[in-house]
Amino acid sequence: MNRRLGVLISGRGSNLQALIDAIREGRLDATIAVVISNREDAEGLEKARSAGIEALALSHRGWPSRDDYDRAIARELRSRDVGLVCLAGFMRLVGAPLLDAFPNAVVNIHPSLLPAFPGVEAQRQALDYGAKVSGVTVHLVTPELDGGPIILQRVVPVLSDDTAESLASRILVEEHHAYPEAVALLLEGGWRVEGRRFTLKSANAASA
Ligand code: GRF
Repeated sequence: MNRRLGVLISGRGSNLQALIDAIREGRLDATIAVVISNREDAEGLEKARSAGIEALALSHRGWPSRDDYDRAIARELRSRDVGLVCLAGFMRLVGAPLLDAFPNAVVNIHPSLLPAFPGVEAQRQALDYGAKVSGVTVHLVTPELDGGPIILQRVVPVLSDDTAESLASRILVEEHHAYPEAVALLLEGGWRVEGRRFTLKSANAASA
């Protein structure tokens, strides 16, 4: 697989930073070709620039349609020969023009154990629901919000004295391990998607 990443963000960019660090430390064999934010004031843009990575603000406003915006992002990514698109706190639904341009090559990180608690404020949702465990999911992106095949998950216990903030910060620690790990797995190849199931071909062969 083409190891050039395009990272899409909207804000803080701590998962972007985790990818940058993993590459720098040799845990992830990849190059971040470009970081694109739909918000000009995203802190992550500065994180990218400090690491010497091209950082682009491309607002979602002012396009005739959502698809036009997605097409514009796809164009920017393709012109930089991106092979894998990593959503890292990108607060936009990704539609067909972008997904079709990168089939099975758009990945997202979500702070809950999907399919529980999709959408915004997943950590607060888990707490308010009374879940005893929550965690992290890295998944392939499909048109359904937070609904694509699951690549990996990590469990984080919900403690009795947790607030949404304390739970979110413990989950975030796991996110920063899980995302580079999942991206490395994807880039390694040897996996397939059957229906909703993401499986490693070698693991299948071993258990066959
Ligand atoms: C993370 O919790 C991620 O799971 C979710 O949005 C948040 C982004 O945080 N999709 P950051 O911008 O990577 O710090």
